[in-house]
Amino acid sequence: MNGAKMASPLRRVRSVAELRAETKTWKTDGAKIGFVPTMGALHAGHLDLVKRAKAVADKVVVSIFVNPLQFAPTEDLDRYPRDEAGDVAKLESAGCDLVYLPTVDVLYPQGFVSRIEMSGPAQGLETDFRPQFFSGVATVVMKLFHQVGPDVAVFGEKDFQQLAVIRAMVRDFDLPIDIIGAPTVREADGLALSSRNAYLSPDERAAAPELQRQLQVIAQSDTLEAAIEQAKAALTQVGFGKIDYIALRDADTLGALTDATRAKRLLAALWLGKTRLIDNIGVV
Ligand code: PAJ
Repeated sequence: MNGAKMASPLRRVRSVAELRAETKTWKTDGAKIGFVPTMGALHAGHLDLVKRAKAVADKVVVSIFVNPLQFAPTEDLDRYPRDEAGDVAKLESAGCDLVYLPTVDVLYPQGFVSRIEMSGPAQGLETDFRPQFFSGVATVVMKLFHQVGPDVAVFGEKDFQQLAVIRAMVRDFDLPIDIIGAPTVREADGLALSSRNAYLSPDERAAAPELQRQLQVIAQSDTLEAAIEQAKAALTQVGFGKIDYIALRDADTLGALTDATRAKRLLAALWLGKTRLIDNIGVV
């Protein structure tokens, strides 16, 4: 070696014992731990969360786990994109300190019977179409929080309802974890980055940015409900299929808008071929 500092390879752990051995040393040293839970197939949106975690913590743990509990039997659990080697290479350059890759047996050993069930922000929107989803998300995130023991965790606004659910869970269970919400990272044409974009055919990919464009048109309109109906027609026109919802909600509670002075959020989920896209934006 000529004195140049060699980047050490990113450490991968697969068991709770290995994970805790590592984080225990960090905690003894007084390091602040940041955490970014993911399902892998990482893109620039995920890596932005890692950078945000790195900016506020001394050590950053990223978990990669495709969580069966949040998929319905009809959903894409089996075909969800997986690329451990590619993900680890990206995390290495993003400044991640440890990647946690538990197997299903580690998270849900034989005899696992508990679930976190939530109301409040978990009601409606995604839950109307994926009734199992937030119970699966909250249960795995609670387990990951206990295993990793972070001081701060970063989630994307891309999954805006999920972020609200996690904030409520952390508050309700008195978890000593700061939750940071990060703005959605987009392609140049406005499409929100998503691991599921890999499913889109070239024609679908060309139509996909119309979702964000239409959300912006609605958000800038004075007659929001009429604008939502026009946007639905425009999206159908460019090839979108079933529209699960395009809905305006209170940005904090995700309930119905009761007070015009409160922050609002426009949220959407709809199908493009066999792919379900979600997106959302703030409305002033
Ligand atoms: P996953 O879809 O892999 O997303 C992991 C994190 O990346 C989430 O916080 C999500 O909101 C964020 N993210 C996804 N796309 C983004 C984008 N374009 N810009 C910014 N952030 C983005 O969400 C999950 O996994 C799972 O439900 C999980 C929380 C890991 C529980 O299983």
